[in-house]
Amino acid sequence: MARIRMVAGNWKMNKNYEDGRDLAMAVRDALGPSEVKVVFCTPYIHLKTVSIILKDILNIHLGAQNCHEKESGAFTGEISAPQLKSTGCEYVILGHSERREYFKESHELLAEKTKAVLGQGMKPIFCFGEKLDSREAGKQNQIVEKQLKESLFKNFSKDEFANITLAYEPVWAIGTGKTASPKQAQEMHQFIRSLVKKKYGAETADSTTILYGGSVKPANAKDLFGQPDVDGGLIGGASLKAPDFVEITKAFF
Ligand code: PGA
Repeated sequence: MARIRMVAGNWKMNKNYEDGRDLAMAVRDALGPSEVKVVFCTPYIHLKTVSIILKDILNIHLGAQNCHEKESGAFTGEISAPQLKSTGCEYVILGHSERREYFKESHELLAEKTKAVLGQGMKPIFCFGEKLDSREAGKQNQIVEKQLKESLFKNFSKDEFANITLAYEPVWAIGTGKTASPKQAQEMHQFIRSLVKKKYGAETADSTTILYGGSVKPANAKDLFGQPDVDGGLIGGASLKAPDFVEITKAFF
């Protein structure tokens, strides 16, 4: 089975209501049909409007950036997976390093959130990656293996795992302008695929989409996406400018 190639935009906590609507429309109008799956992971306030903007557009999908692990209840300020689903949301970013770092999200909590998202028939985009000190100490593989084992491998069957997109995001490359070299990205993605193979078998490993994230720009996207085990990108800063984001989606060709 051919792997799905994907470019997902992570808007983070950016864009007020009108600006978000305009950005979604600008990308939609400039993109046209493409073989690449595009996902807009917007702040909650945009979800329903962007879902309407994307109606009948087959290659652009809607995603959120987080969700609560419980279905409903007295959790003031939180949003649940069923609520996301009701807006037309299909993807949810989980485990982003900003959530792990600033909101102290643990391996166990991320497994619960992943269950909640899968339970609604949505697809998690599961992020992980090492910090700079671990990379400098040569411990990146160890860290990544632990992040995958503790949250995903321990808790999900092969069938469940088939609905999860992985996103390797070295923390030292996020928002810093410092990108992993294509060689560093390829080495890590190959390693990740070998871990998936060991746990779930060759067929699952071959069909798992593994995105790279961390300062992807129009200027470096082609080299990164040209690596055999890099199946696309999770794009932060550059997803906020329609021309840059559209150019990145074309970097496969
Ligand atoms: P960046 O963010 O592209 O701005 O580095 C990527 C991410 O955090 O997903």
